[in-house]
Amino acid sequence: MKPPRFDDLNLSSRILLGPGPSMVPPRVLRALAQPPVGHLDPEFLTLMAEVQELLRFVFQTENELTIPVSGTGSAGMEAALCNFIEPGDRVLIAVNGYFGERMVNMAGRYGAQVDRLDRPWGEVFTPKEIETALITARYKLLALVHAETSTGARQPDIAEIAAAAHRHGALLVLDTVTSLGGLPVEIDAWDVDVAYSGTQKALSCPPGLAPLTVGPRAREALARRQTPVGNWYLDLTLVTKYWGAERTYHHTAPINMNYALREALRMVVEEGLEARFARHREHAQTLWAGLEKLGLPPRVPEAHRLPTLTTPQLPKGLDDAAIRKRLLDEYNIEIAGGFGPLAGQIWRIGLMGFSARRENVTLLLAALGELIP
Ligand SMILES: Cc1ncc(COP(=O)(O)O)c(C=O)c1O
Repeated sequence: MKPPRFDDLNLSSRILLGPGPSMVPPRVLRALAQPPVGHLDPEFLTLMAEVQELLRFVFQTENELTIPVSGTGSAGMEAALCNFIEPGDRVLIAVNGYFGERMVNMAGRYGAQVDRLDRPWGEVFTPKEIETALITARYKLLALVHAETSTGARQPDIAEIAAAAHRHGALLVLDTVTSLGGLPVEIDAWDVDVAYSGTQKALSCPPGLAPLTVGPRAREALARRQTPVGNWYLDLTLVTKYWGAERTYHHTAPINMNYALREALRMVVEEGLEARFARHREHAQTLWAGLEKLGLPPRVPEAHRLPTLTTPQLPKGLDDAAIRKRLLDEYNIEIAGGFGPLAGQIWRIGLMGFSARRENVTLLLAALGELIP
């Protein structure tokens, strides 16, 4: 067989303004490039504890079981579902976009009897309608998405929804993939039982780890399981033996990704949560005003619009794909199109973490001004 030979890797340095991944600061890339140590090296064990402490801060939680799951955001989603679902359990999932759909799919694979509460893509739920749905059966778990990356909508009233779930004996699982590090996520104040995220959005770390936090109610549910967790790799009863006091091998942690996450989280702490949220908000507002002027008004009402992901409504006849291609080819900027019921109707413009900077907003608006006929 002829050996395949390729050139040195020399990728473009893109301006990433899509739904993720976001741009990664040089400091984080430098941390990633440090030589790997062993997964039980005392220096790595110290780093693991630091990453956990930093994650607790970003999630605003005291939850001891707070770890970076090995894998992307979907691994976090899967860990948040498979550990708390036993075959036959009734689960309620609120679906108003693609990632709610994905949770329905995953929960069904673990044998849950899944009921869904639907809203059109882009809308949000009221605590009252969620409570009305919770009354219809004895649900073990309610799951929903805080920041829907397919639509740009932020689900408000998480504390009220958590209280409703608890009144009816259900755990609340919350997807914070597109919110953590970019807008307030207050796990303890809101009383969320399980939350997960991804590293590649507002935390501005490459994709590869999924922050996860599990509160006391959920830990009790895990301890009460009658059947083994349906996924070996993500089984928290095993994974916690590595991330907890025992330090027993389960799988080899992605060592360098943890270096990168530690640095990305240190940057969140240095900036301060409030300042970071304000920066995301300020640049999003500049983007929204500029898009309005270009005749591309954000589709989601401002009251529940995400600062991290904006979805402008495209005018009829605009060649969505051609403009996005020219943005990439001529301006080096990535944004994304809509999909599912919103295909061809919206763009998805991310301002997350290190991508959320004034120069990126100015450049994108100027480029769109040149490209839109
Ligand atoms: C809200 C939400 N949940 C889950 C995921 C899945 O994350 P990943 O693609 O990193 O597996 C994403 C990714 O875009 C997301 O936006």
